Amino acid sequence: MINALDMKYEILPSLLAADYGFLADEIRRAEAAGADALHIDIMDPHFVPNMSFGPDIVALARRVAPNFYRNVHLMMSRPDLYIEKFVAAGAETLQLHIEADCNLHEEFRRLKSMGVKRAIVVNPETPVAKIEPFLGEIDEALVMTVHPGYGGQKFISACLRKVEWIRARRPRLDIMIDGGANAETIPEAARAGANQFVAGSYLYKQTDMKGAIDSLRASLASL
Ligand code: DX5
Ligand code: ZN
Repeated sequence: MINALDMKYEILPSLLAADYGFLADEIRRAEAAGADALHIDIMDPHFVPNMSFGPDIVALARRVAPNFYRNVHLMMSRPDLYIEKFVAAGAETLQLHIEADCNLHEEFRRLKSMGVKRAIVVNPETPVAKIEPFLGEIDEALVMTVHPGYGGQKFISACLRKVEWIRARRPRLDIMIDGGANAETIPEAARAGANQFVAGSYLYKQTDMKGAIDSLRASLASL
């Protein structure tokens, strides 16, 4: 599906909101629903006030749904120490925060040489201009639309000004939003220039995830 800028819209369920008693089924459910990729949230409790998954869950996703693209969000203070592990586990895009404590230029170079797609992530309280030096080194920009750490939070519309800022500078870059996405906020984000949408609780709480994704795609097509 293509918008006015000729960008593909992508919908990514976030595994954080899945039923952990049935993780393999939940991964396959998102793939069967026609999602474009699986968003896997990795947290360390220094960077955010929570913990989630490690590389084994990325490897589980690869094992149970090998063709389902793995988009891995590293909410970590030192992502540089774990990059190899996540790449070996099957991460296809790695998303690194501008707020992390490492040399991102170096990490993006390393990821490129490993053939892994690179994204930079910006938290709600961080000025978007800070990512400017990295815009030529990334495949995707991820604008957090909640404070990272938990699913099910309210969408922060003010963060869409960052999407507009990035889109004005990079007409062809994939721009993703993450947090509080649903049938109302996804079209709002698309109008601001985003073309990739992570949705955790909104999609995983659906009994008919395919129906929800189809109707999101229809509403994006009619923008
Ligand atoms: C938040 C995570 C999100 C989270 C989104 O820290 O990065 O990916 O799963 O959850 P929802 O869509 O429920 O806000
Ligand atoms: Zn995320």
